[in-house]
Amino acid sequence: MSNQAKLELDGKTYTLPTLTGSENEKAVDVSALRASTGYITIDDGYGNTGSCVSNVTFIDGDQGILRYRGIPIEELAEKSNFVETAHLIIYGELPNRAQLKKFSDLLTDNQYLHEDMKFHFEGFPTGAHPMAILSAMINASSCFDEDLMRWQWGKNKQFDVYVARLISQVRTIAAYSYRKSKGLPLIYPKQSYKYTENFLHMLFSMPYEDFVLKPEVVKALDLIFLLHADHEQNCSTSTVRMVASSQANLFASCAAGVCALWGPLHGGANQAVIEMLQQIHREGDDGSKFITAAKDKNSGKKLMGFGHRVYKNYDPRAKIIKKACDEVLSKLHIDDPLLDIAKKLEEAALKDSYFVERKLYPNVDFYSGIIMRAIGIPVEMFTVIFAIGRMPGWIANYKEIMEEPKSRIYRPRQIYTGRTLNHYVPVAERK
Ligand code: COA
Repeated sequence: MSNQAKLELDGKTYTLPTLTGSENEKAVDVSALRASTGYITIDDGYGNTGSCVSNVTFIDGDQGILRYRGIPIEELAEKSNFVETAHLIIYGELPNRAQLKKFSDLLTDNQYLHEDMKFHFEGFPTGAHPMAILSAMINASSCFDEDLMRWQWGKNKQFDVYVARLISQVRTIAAYSYRKSKGLPLIYPKQSYKYTENFLHMLFSMPYEDFVLKPEVVKALDLIFLLHADHEQNCSTSTVRMVASSQANLFASCAAGVCALWGPLHGGANQAVIEMLQQIHREGDDGSKFITAAKDKNSGKKLMGFGHRVYKNYDPRAKIIKKACDEVLSKLHIDDPLLDIAKKLEEAALKDSYFVERKLYPNVDFYSGIIMRAIGIPVEMFTVIFAIGRMPGWIANYKEIMEEPKSRIYRPRQIYTGRTLNHYVPVAERK
């Protein structure tokens, strides 16, 4: 017999159904609560609210588990690559040979931006933040496809084409955003390069002089994309679902995800980590002064790259990335003082009762910035890299909304705490 929750309100008892996920996650279903009781639930920051059921990603924050479509992140990091994992996340299965070829070919066929898009890039000032350009340009690129503008799920061009276009073009737009922000000429993608190679090429090649692609650099960046590919209902993914629930098109929904990702408490944390490490280095601190400040609520400082809403154990991605960081720096013979500071900070924080009691561990952003710095990615591009990586997850969540026949527009409630009835006073009579 299924479990039921009992709720006592105003002297009456209500029965609420419960729900159990495939990994035994439990929920009380309050969908009918307001209609039957007149009450709503309040959950500041949504820490206890399941906004959907989803088949894409499973996280057990207490045990440090992350799985895409059931496959542990550790296995994918070791054996797969970003493109194959993107297919897994979006379509639910690892592709067979033929599916992988079809998917890769579609990505290649859809990598070019409409030539007129170049004029839009010219409108941004040099120095504009690439995240601002990225979100604007994802939306702008959708204007070059009339079919997408008249978007209706299942009635237009194949969804697969839009998926490939978005995954492929976001990388081209991201590279162009960077080139534009530096005032450099735009570099076109090459048919013969694979996904991550092509991104590095567009980012760093010069006209008539191709960037030399080192395998360890390509591998490290591909791993960063893969580790960011999905992370269930976080701030940006919920934003994508929210926008998608109004039946907005795929590009508009994912552009909104880019904006949500930008903030320093979410995707912007990788940039904030490097800025924090640079500040510590500049001030000649070994990290101990910063840790003291991060524990003081009045200092306005936090140990960036530490803590997570869900992981109350080590973030499994952080373990993988820490190892990759050591490997890539040693292969490239780079001795980065910021890596030493990061390691000292981690060591000190993991022994400090403030961080231990609050279960604050390094998250994926703590070491990813050091890898990106080592392979030459500029700091202002870090969050853009996260956005490229997260695209498959956003698309998979968009697809779930569209495929759900009973999907309703997302529309939370609130408890109003403002003034009660109040009347308009003409300006001459106001004090
Ligand atoms: N440094 C110092 N203290 C931190 C902290 C950090 N990085 N992260 C959380 N805390 C403290 C909070 O101040 C709070 O203290 P209190 O209980 O004394 O009030 C406690 O730890 C619990 O944190 P909480 O604010 O409930 O966490 P959250 O779930 O709301 O926020 C993050 C999670 C990720 C936003 C938060 O940990 C953070 O800001 N981390 C730094 C930014 C970052 O790395 N973001 C990337 C996430 S992948």
